[in-house]
Amino acid sequence: MKRIGILGGGQLARMMVIEGFKMGLEMHVLSSRADDPAAQVTRFWHEGDPNSEPELAQFLSRVDVATVESEFLDERVLAPAIQTSRVAVVPSPKLLGLLSDRKTQKEWLKQHKIPTSPFVALHTATDARNFFREHAHSPGRKNTGGVVFKKRRHGYDGYGTFIIQNGRELEEWLNKFGDSIHEFICEAFIPFRRELALQFARNTDGEILCYPLVEWHAQNSRCLWVKGPVGAIPYGKKSPSDHPQTAKLTRLISRALKQSSYVGLISFELFEARSRSSAQTEILVNEIAPRVHNSGHYSLEATTPNQFQAHLRAILNWPLPKTAQLCSNGFAMWNILGKSDSRKSGANNSREWRPPHDVHMHWYGKSEIREGRKMGHMTALAATPEAALKILSTTAKRLKL
Ligand SMILES: Nc1ncnc2c1ncn2[C@@H]1O[C@H](COP(=O)(O)OP(=O)(O)OP(=O)(O)O)[C@@H](O)[C@H]1O
Ligand SMILES: [Mg+2]
Repeated sequence: MKRIGILGGGQLARMMVIEGFKMGLEMHVLSSRADDPAAQVTRFWHEGDPNSEPELAQFLSRVDVATVESEFLDERVLAPAIQTSRVAVVPSPKLLGLLSDRKTQKEWLKQHKIPTSPFVALHTATDARNFFREHAHSPGRKNTGGVVFKKRRHGYDGYGTFIIQNGRELEEWLNKFGDSIHEFICEAFIPFRRELALQFARNTDGEILCYPLVEWHAQNSRCLWVKGPVGAIPYGKKSPSDHPQTAKLTRLISRALKQSSYVGLISFELFEARSRSSAQTEILVNEIAPRVHNSGHYSLEATTPNQFQAHLRAILNWPLPKTAQLCSNGFAMWNILGKSDSRKSGANNSREWRPPHDVHMHWYGKSEIREGRKMGHMTALAATPEAALKILSTTAKRLKL
């Protein structure tokens, strides 16, 4: 039995462990607490910190290949631990390092001619003021311009993202963060129509699997739901999507993954926006996550293989199909997010709650409910994406956390 090691014990690791066991793999987890979501679902839990070199090296020596659930690992810890143990971490620490920094991530997109918003790396406040002057107003439209400051590393769920729409906001931001300005990039605000997402998996042989294009929606900077596929794909058809720009984007991303020798699953958050040069829409990449992703959880029920299986197949160099096979014409995913006052008000009904039969529940095993914390998610399949989403929005109203 192949032994797979996962660095980290959150819900992404938990779902990977569950899917890995189904595939006949022995799933090991390195995390700090025995009640971490992934630690609960494997006999092969190892107590330790993925950012401690000796603990990591010891863990690696007990598995055949390792992977991550977060791109934010310290390369200075990973490299020597890999050298000591002679066990590979996939995707490679070099690519994880490159893609976990917003500056090098944007440069990677630019280098591979993948459409993304204009950006600048920041050294001084003048860099930011100059860039703001250039992008404060989108051509031909009022109040749709502005810039966005983004922390280069460790941003998530909107933490580290600052939307600036006028000169006053800019100066206030510079007063607050000017001293650490080199830790940020600045990009043009995109007045997007909707947010989309797309995933790929690539194995060592170079086979690339493409997932369908999906739409997602955030509430308070946290993903609330996903629905898809975007564009009408008749049931049983192979094409990932007939959205006009997707085929081109898929080609560009596939080429970039090949040229970078990327191995594993990779997720792209996208903006669908009106083109700056024509009346058509265009798709821009907003952000890359070199791992399995919340926007792909729908795949647990909606596609074969699902994103966790695809990631494991990729890192083991097992064969991959060109596209994920859809199990229905429409699917949706809804995140179950914690509410801060549920304990006090006694509003939590999740224990007594009886889920409807057409909803697939995925709980993450977290005992403490906090405001906005991802406690689980649910998925539904239906004749259309909208019908699937409707099943979940109705269910979400009845479930109180
Ligand atoms: N250039 C932009 N123009 C308009 N809106 C933007 C821009 N960049 C980010 N946003 C908005 O802010 C959200 C968070 O930004 P982004 O995804 O880059 O950061 P994040 O905090 O890393 O998010 P995540 O939770 O996905 O890790 C986006 O989903 C989008 O709604
Ligand atoms: Mg994001």
